[in-house]
Amino acid sequence: MIRIIGLLLVLISQVAIASDTLWSETELRIIESLSINQIPKRPISPSNQFANNALAQELGKKLFFDTQFSGNKQLSCASCHQPDKFFTDGLPLARGLHATGRNTPTVVGSAWQRWFYWDGRKDSLWSQALIPFEAPNEMGGNRVSVVNTIFSDKQYRETYENLFGPFPKTLKHAELTLEAGPIGTKVMQSRWKKLNKETQESIDRVYVNIGKSLAAYQRTLSYQATSFDHYAAQLKENNNSNKKLKKNAIKSLLTDDQIAGLKLFINPEKTSCLQCHNSALFTNRGFHNVGSGTFSGASLDFGRMLGLQAVLLDEFNCLGPYSDANPSECTSLNYLNRRQHIPLKGAFKTPGLRNLRSTSPYFHDGRFKSLEEVVNFYNNPPTDNGPHELSPLGLTREEVSQLVHFLDSLN
Ligand code: HEC
Ligand code: HEC
Repeated sequence: MIRIIGLLLVLISQVAIASDTLWSETELRIIESLSINQIPKRPISPSNQFANNALAQELGKKLFFDTQFSGNKQLSCASCHQPDKFFTDGLPLARGLHATGRNTPTVVGSAWQRWFYWDGRKDSLWSQALIPFEAPNEMGGNRVSVVNTIFSDKQYRETYENLFGPFPKTLKHAELTLEAGPIGTKVMQSRWKKLNKETQESIDRVYVNIGKSLAAYQRTLSYQATSFDHYAAQLKENNNSNKKLKKNAIKSLLTDDQIAGLKLFINPEKTSCLQCHNSALFTNRGFHNVGSGTFSGASLDFGRMLGLQAVLLDEFNCLGPYSDANPSECTSLNYLNRRQHIPLKGAFKTPGLRNLRSTSPYFHDGRFKSLEEVVNFYNNPPTDNGPHELSPLGLTREEVSQLVHFLDSLN
């Protein structure tokens, strides 16, 4: 009898060790799917034939950090996308020449995105890059001055011509010294309208090539392995084996709270996080409505509902005249889901969850300072902000904290 009890105790203690650290086969597969080595090769970008060109990457990098292209000569892309903040700015709402209405997202990992901006109103990195120069509240420059800066700077011009061929002959020096563009002040717009069609198109062509270079540079920005990734790699190597020593070594890569948080994150019965934040990028790259839209007041934001209309009308989209793609290669636009199976009014692009420690505050309007606030939001989603996709989670305070600890392991 004593021997049987003894045997039972041994068995129970082994089960306890096992259940303490072992993951089910399904869980292991999910963890592997989230790990950094599952990030695929950079997808091709058919609308930009310079996407992987080394000289374009170099030129794009210079442009990204150059303040000459802004209205006050003090702002560059990097003013808001700061490398030491994982290419964000630490502000709730971005501020250029004036306040803007949205939070600055990172540009790291943009090679893998399908849509750009929180509302996806752009379908390529290069067409996105054409906006900030001219946006009055961002860099407040204008299209002709941007092109003129390339034209008049010996080094820029040389690099430009090496890459894209000679500067359009139709462009006359006098026209390039104008402060003009289709967006911007009334004066700039009226000067732009007075230029003939051919001149406008030549300026647009150069402007687009600037965007294509910026895209080439941003495509090089990728992720580094986090403690979660090291943990996932070790798990895989260990193949979930029962060797106690090794398991403890693996365990030490994450804290108990982080492991508990990971369990919650991948458990569809406890949370729905994976439904939208999946794959090694921690995003399905689509638009979802989590009840965060604003439908009245000054901070009005309908999200994807208007972004969808905008990308279809955009002359710089993949199907437009400045794209290098065959129409059949424009998969994002061609397979655009127009069925409103989710409420598009107030839907936003699902952000990735890597390196959040450097990118607070969170959400499209920077409404949350801390990740704890974000997880609390998911625990008790809004009940008075129109239809959305979330249901209350019923997590305890400890579980909320564990999820936050897990998110912290993605740094
Ligand atoms: C004044 C601050 C500011 C400046 C300057 C700025 N950005 Fe941004 N950027 C933002 C904000 C804010 C958003 C999101 C806006 C939105 O969704 O409507 C954004 C979005 C983006 C995105 C989309 C990321 C995604 O995943 O959707 C890219 C790429 C980007 N910017 C690149 C650039 C480049 C290139 C430049 C320079 C030509 C630039 N930005 C200049 C603030 C700025
Ligand atoms: C239905 C899809 C969906 C589900 C489920 C979901 N999210 Fe999100 N998540 C989003 C969207 C969309 C945003 C952006 C919302 C906004 O900007 O208004 C977001 C934003 C976030 C952010 C802020 C990131 C940033 O850079 O601003 C975090 C953190 C986050 N989610 C974590 C989670 C966690 C943890 C869970 C599970 C408890 C979860 N999400 C469940 C779609 C989802």
